Amino acid sequence: MAGKIPPQFIDDLLTRVDIVDIIDSRVPLKKAGKNLQACCPFHNEKSPSFTVSPDKQFYHCFGCGAHGTAIGFLMEYDQMSFPEAIQDLADSVGMTVPTTHSVSASPAKQNLYELMDKVSQYYVHQLQTHPQRQIFNDYLRGRGLSEQTIAHFQIGMAPDGWDNVLKTFGGNPHAIQQLNEAGLLSSNDKGRHYDRFRNRVMFPIRDRRGRVVGFGGRVLDDSTPKYLNSPETAIFHKSNELYGLFQARKTNRKLERVVIVEGYMDVIALAEKGITNAVATLGTATTIEHLRQLQRAAPEIVFCFDGDRAGKEAAWRAAENALPLLGGNHQLKFMFLADGEDPDSMVRKQGSEAFTAAVKQAKNYSDFFFESIESRVDMSSMDGRARLVEVAKPYLKHIPAGVYRDMMEQRLADSAKTSTMILHKHLDKPQQPAMVKKPMPVSTNLSPVRLAVTILIQYPSLYSEVGDYDKIETLSQPGINVLLALLNILAENPQLNTAALLERTRDADFNPHLRKLAMQPLTLSDSELKHDLIKYIQQLQQEAIAQRQAYLTGKPFSELTEAEKQEIKLFK
Ligand code: UTP
Ligand code: MN
Repeated sequence: MAGKIPPQFIDDLLTRVDIVDIIDSRVPLKKAGKNLQACCPFHNEKSPSFTVSPDKQFYHCFGCGAHGTAIGFLMEYDQMSFPEAIQDLADSVGMTVPTTHSVSASPAKQNLYELMDKVSQYYVHQLQTHPQRQIFNDYLRGRGLSEQTIAHFQIGMAPDGWDNVLKTFGGNPHAIQQLNEAGLLSSNDKGRHYDRFRNRVMFPIRDRRGRVVGFGGRVLDDSTPKYLNSPETAIFHKSNELYGLFQARKTNRKLERVVIVEGYMDVIALAEKGITNAVATLGTATTIEHLRQLQRAAPEIVFCFDGDRAGKEAAWRAAENALPLLGGNHQLKFMFLADGEDPDSMVRKQGSEAFTAAVKQAKNYSDFFFESIESRVDMSSMDGRARLVEVAKPYLKHIPAGVYRDMMEQRLADSAKTSTMILHKHLDKPQQPAMVKKPMPVSTNLSPVRLAVTILIQYPSLYSEVGDYDKIETLSQPGINVLLALLNILAENPQLNTAALLERTRDADFNPHLRKLAMQPLTLSDSELKHDLIKYIQQLQQEAIAQRQAYLTGKPFSELTEAEKQEIKLFK
């Protein structure tokens, strides 16, 4: 496990870096009052609702709710891990991440990335120079691939033989261990290592930043397994990666649509024909993580499946996984190819226009959803339609509350020939929509604790205005622990900004709550904020004192300790 990075270091880091620079270099920002704005990189939009606050060192999108610190931004936008983001930021301001406790994950992973890159180049080089390259090149030509496409996807060859990679890259025991950690070796019963990929066409798999994280290797003939993929490693997680996403984003400045296909060769064959927006999962079902990434990349996602039974089943699994992501500005669609065809065979036989036309005619999510479940019941009988409601209910529950869900419910009611009112008697209550943020009504019945926390997290410098709060600890009220945590951190580190406070409490169970409050719009002037914060804390302190008094005066005199008797005297 990676060593813990000292919180003090993260505090310092966050006061040295400027989130505006970090984001502006990736997403150009425009000034808007005291904040900066851009169209949100995490969802598709026409007018900017992505806001960066230099004061709070925090970003927030009013459209999709994305938010966080500079660290969080790198984790989201560049898909970095927490230690990687820290490393990156530290590099940018010339700070050294302390690694005294144990080695941070980043350098170890860095070595793997470098190794994978070298091996990928080696496979490409083999395809150009190896004595046996002809059969590989013939194979690729036979599949209709041009020189440019082969280069674009950096396709290579793993020559036949047990130790080509092992000999080239495993010069010492440490290097062999690295190859092993990179998933490039297999071993026999006796623990002897040999090359995992032999005599295969090699497809490097890149993460969204373009780093090679794994390989897929295809045989040239009918032997099995047809495709061999890298195992999961520290840098390769199949449920996160999509083959071709890096290239699709690189080729298209703005992706309007992404098509998810099943195989590497489908992505490549489509690109050969000028369809450069296809991605493939790596022999697994589409996960919610895949979909999240794709939703950030394009407003429309089209699943492309075989028209056979297996294809329909895979499509249903994908539809189930997508439920929590439905609605908003995103479209999810399904297309089915003729039995026995895949995108590769289809574009080669019918050309790119036919494929593009089929993509445009893809079924809407709702049509596919209802057709699928309606096919499971007898829609001509009342009993069948009642069953439809029962079947659909558990699915609809996972759709985020909002217009889309309401309309799906309406459609279920229509199909079942009942009303949404009757349906609602039986559907569980919808969850609160996460996206909509209302300005916080001031001086309403919100608790002083919550209001104090909201002001303090957004304006930590006001800590210096806060008077005594020592008694608050004894109060039992929801949120008191959060308030105290903030006050105590600030007592020791009064210079911290919002971002640093959020990172300080990253692992606390109340952190998500705190992040929400950090972006709750407050419509108060500076002096009102200060006044209110002081007022709330005084109010709590008074409450704590009153509670203590009530407790002590309620206790029989004979049971009071000496100290408590002294305390009572002080009250009077
Ligand atoms: P397919 O068998 O549909 O292959 O596998 P394909 O893409 O049409 O390949 P070609 O056209 O014969 O070359 C689809 C995907 O399933 C995974 C791979 O990711 C492949 O791209 N797969 C398939 C494996 O991981 N292992 C296998 O043995 C077969
Ligand atoms: Mn195929």
